[in-house]
Amino acid sequence: MDFTTLCKDRYSVRAYSDKPIEEEKLNKILQTALSAPTAKNNRPVRFIVCKSQEALAKAASCSPCTFNAPAVIIVCTDTDVCWNATDGSRTSADIDATLVGSQLMLSATENGLGTCFVLLFDPQKTKEVFELPNNIKPIFYMPIGYKAETAEPNPRHFQRDNLEDVTKIL
Ligand SMILES: Cc1cc2nc3c(=O)[nH]c(=O)nc-3n(C[C@H](O)[C@H](O)[C@H](O)COP(=O)(O)O)c2cc1C
Repeated sequence: MDFTTLCKDRYSVRAYSDKPIEEEKLNKILQTALSAPTAKNNRPVRFIVCKSQEALAKAASCSPCTFNAPAVIIVCTDTDVCWNATDGSRTSADIDATLVGSQLMLSATENGLGTCFVLLFDPQKTKEVFELPNNIKPIFYMPIGYKAETAEPNPRHFQRDNLEDVTKIL
C-alpha cells in the first residue's frame, strides 16, 4: 500500500474482533513506531502493552474507550529523558509520544490492524493502577486489533478541510 492510500485507509476503529494479534506483528508495529523522530533524539517514549485479561481490565477501568480490543497500548513518556527547555517553559513529552503514535497507527493499518487514538482516560488512575513511577507520564491510550466485521468509520472521519480553507500562502 502506498503512503497516500495508507493515510486514507486509516480510521478510528471502535469495534474489534477477538482474534489475537500475532506477537511478531505487534512487535514489528511497535518497532516501526519507534523509528519516529524525537526531540534531540532523546527517545523518551515507553509502551505499556496490555494483553492479559488482567491488564486489559485495568486499562478499561481507566478509560471508557478501550473498545474490548485484544490489546491496548498505553503510550507514555519518561519525563526525565524527554527534552525540556532550560527555563522549564516547554517539553517535548506530548509531541514525541504523538509522533510515535502516528507511526503506530499507520503501521497497524499497513499490517491489517485497526487502532484508535484515545485521550479520554484518567491519567492519575492510570499511574496508580499500573504503578507507574513519577517520571513515567501516560500520554494516550491506543486500542489495537483486528477490526470487527461490523467496524466502520464514524461520519466524522469523512469531515476533512479543503486545503485552501486552512492554508495561507505568503
Ligand atoms: C488527540 C486525539 C484524541 C482523541 N481521543 C479520542 C478518544 O478519547 N476517544 C475516541 O473514541 N476517539 C478519540 N480520538 C479519535 C478522533 O475522534 C478521530 O480521529 C476523529 O474523529 C477523526 O476520525 P478518524 O480517526 O476516523 O479519521 C482522538 C483523536 C485524537 C487525534
